[in-house]
Amino acid sequence: MMSSIVLKSLNILNFKNWEECALLFSESINCFLGPNGVGKTNLIDAIHYLCTTKSFLTHTDAHMIRQGSDFVMIKGLFDRSGQEDEILLSLKKNEKKVLKRNDVEYTKLSDHIGLLPVVVISPMDSNLIHEGSEERRKVTDLILSLADGLYLHHLLRYNRLLQQRNAYLKEAVPSRKLRADILGLYDEQMEPLAAYIHEARQTFWGKTKKWLSDFYYKIAETDERVSIQYQSDLDQGPLGMLLEQSIQRDTEVLYTSKGIHRDDLEMHLNGNPIKKFGSQGQQKSFLIAMKLAMYAVLKEKTALPPILLFDDIFDKLDQERTKHVIRLVREMKFGQVFLTDTHPERSMQLAGQFDVNACFYHIRADQKVEKL
Ligand SMILES: Nc1ncnc2c1ncn2[C@@H]1O[C@H](COP(=O)(O)OP(=O)(O)O)[C@@H](O)[C@H]1O
Ligand SMILES: [Mg+2]
Repeated sequence: MMSSIVLKSLNILNFKNWEECALLFSESINCFLGPNGVGKTNLIDAIHYLCTTKSFLTHTDAHMIRQGSDFVMIKGLFDRSGQEDEILLSLKKNEKKVLKRNDVEYTKLSDHIGLLPVVVISPMDSNLIHEGSEERRKVTDLILSLADGLYLHHLLRYNRLLQQRNAYLKEAVPSRKLRADILGLYDEQMEPLAAYIHEARQTFWGKTKKWLSDFYYKIAETDERVSIQYQSDLDQGPLGMLLEQSIQRDTEVLYTSKGIHRDDLEMHLNGNPIKKFGSQGQQKSFLIAMKLAMYAVLKEKTALPPILLFDDIFDKLDQERTKHVIRLVREMKFGQVFLTDTHPERSMQLAGQFDVNACFYHIRADQKVEKL
């Protein structure tokens, strides 16, 4: 039997603009079609929630509760290489969200991450180019957490120690009670965690970089050179050494000025930063190629084709490049795909060529869904 992950059905109650919705899916490609504002992107986000416990749009869970309602529920039935898993996410107003797998509640939400690998490609990806380094670290951390349970565990511990170290600096320096031996205890614990995370990120971006050039060429069919470069303080040496060297500075600024929490990713087109020198179309093609490259590396790591969520990919891409993206996804032996489009004919034509088992969901302005 082939290994695969398939979302067979989705049931939602009071999720964002959806009061109630129940859908059955194809194991190949599923297209949510309809005018702006009917809730297509929200359906993609509901699937993202089930796989990662988080939205790809907002950091505030309370926003998922439909206005005027006091709870939300999302339920998905997944088939993982023959094993069925019912994942249920619910949230009541002013309470913490609850996640259950086959009726058993998770004690820690992070225990769920990795069960259902997923990659989302959306217009929000432009934040990766235009926003600060935190966005780039976040996308790296999510995908590495999906691929490797130890990564998330180490990252959470590192972040907790970092917070404690910063709090200690803030408290002990002004009151002149700073002790090098206490600071050293934090450094000692952080060093191996940072080393693990650094190595994982370096390996991941190294592999992604190789796929990126190939994918960009297949989408854009130009000889433009694209590249990414992972950058970390730890490229200079182990964390313990860096922290020792920066102790003077840390006691001045009252936070930890070196470490993997400052890592970044540079993105280049023909040797120049894509942020300044890339056109909108080039940036869009770059981001799709990069996300598909990340998908390829995640797939290699988990030995499973992750679920692929494509929100409004066709926007800002001309017809040729759109066709190339579809062809590339098909070549890559993708798993289950969900996409959204405001132009039903375009998607029906493209997805129809792509796979005869494609399913189309026409969402009307009154949110009735018609399946074709
Ligand atoms: N918590 C919420 N309660 C009610 N409506 C919401 C909530 N969150 C988002 N919406 C509405 O959902 C709609 C957008 O849905 P979206 O999935 O982005 O549409 P589409 O992708 O089809 O253009 C907007 O009209 C927005 O106001
Ligand atoms: Mg949308």
